[in-house]
Amino acid sequence: MRVLSIVGARPQFVKLAPVAESFGRAGIDHVIVHTGQHYDARMSDVFFADLSIPAPDVHLGVGSGSHGVQTGSMLSALDAVLDEHRPDWVLVYGDTNSTLAGAVAAVKLHIPVAHLEAGLRSFNRRMPEEHNRVLTDHAADLLLAPTEVAVTHLAAEGLADRTVLLGDVMTDVCFRVRDAVLASELALPPGVDAGSGYLVSTIHRADNTDDPDLLAAIIDSLADLSLPVLLLAHPRLVARCAEFGISLDRPGLIRAEPLPYPEMVAAVLRSRGVVTDSGGLQKEAYLLGVPCTTLRTETEWVETLVDGWNVLDPDLSRVRAMAVRDKPQSAQSQPYGDGHAADRIAPTLTQWH
Ligand code: UD1
Repeated sequence: MRVLSIVGARPQFVKLAPVAESFGRAGIDHVIVHTGQHYDARMSDVFFADLSIPAPDVHLGVGSGSHGVQTGSMLSALDAVLDEHRPDWVLVYGDTNSTLAGAVAAVKLHIPVAHLEAGLRSFNRRMPEEHNRVLTDHAADLLLAPTEVAVTHLAAEGLADRTVLLGDVMTDVCFRVRDAVLASELALPPGVDAGSGYLVSTIHRADNTDDPDLLAAIIDSLADLSLPVLLLAHPRLVARCAEFGISLDRPGLIRAEPLPYPEMVAAVLRSRGVVTDSGGLQKEAYLLGVPCTTLRTETEWVETLVDGWNVLDPDLSRVRAMAVRDKPQSAQSQPYGDGHAADRIAPTLTQWH
């Protein structure tokens, strides 16, 4: 069976890692297409190298642009690729513009398409990711849901008969890398002292970065926390801060480039907490047993909110107290699967073909 994976952005490379490994073991003829949505080495190449992902077979090189331009460029480039490889399945991942383009391109050519991480909903129609998820789920032939909650969302939209509860492949890779990191004592970025305590932060959502007043308030809040903040600065955050005259060189902030995945896991594991607007990092903090404060009005990963492992603070009113809170005493349940979700994909695709 030939499966063609379409990826393009950082979190998709992380999800691709356990899938590619599992497909290798299962003898799947796996074609990897990189759209080029993320292109900086730190946003792309390091993930392939560190997570031992085979190099992409095809690179579309679309780069950045408005949502329409970016998604449209991918769509027009994908026709020829799908025609050439004629896979039995196209597999799309998560909720980026690369996900939507991949799903639409496959559907138009009558190639079966499976959506990995189907059924997540923020119910916030301002988010480009929400459009991408909803449209992809309704276009796809097979919906691989990470959680029971995702299954419920798909059923509510009339999609139950195409849904399979798979578990979350991010759990697979997060646990595998955590175990490797614990065995190897990876160094923390310069200036970060695990002994005296620190927080990890990432901010990249358009709703947070594109409003100058809100962005200034977020950076002020981070710089004002009672522990130093390792701020892993996404290119969009750096660009908007420069545009709006917001300085990231502040005494409370340790500014660093986005980290490779193992270094990120190591930094979170040894931190006192995470402050973020990233979906993936909220869940990684949960899986790694670190409290998270999320600067958004809602989360797709609602299971992280149970017992206060994750706390939402969209108006920055609680972050000063919440960011440094102790971890909850309660034991966590396992809403994100057993760490073997990727191994269920090949048999599921075979069964549904
Ligand atoms: C994208 C995804 C988001 C995901 C995130 C992970 C969409 C709509 N959003 O958001 O769901 O959480 O990836 O990081 O697909 N840039 C660079 N170098 C790069 C990539 C981007 O400088 O390698 C800059 C460009 O200025 C670009 C901006 O970052 O315009 C935003 O990149 P884009 O891929 O459009 O969206 P992300 O914010 O990264």
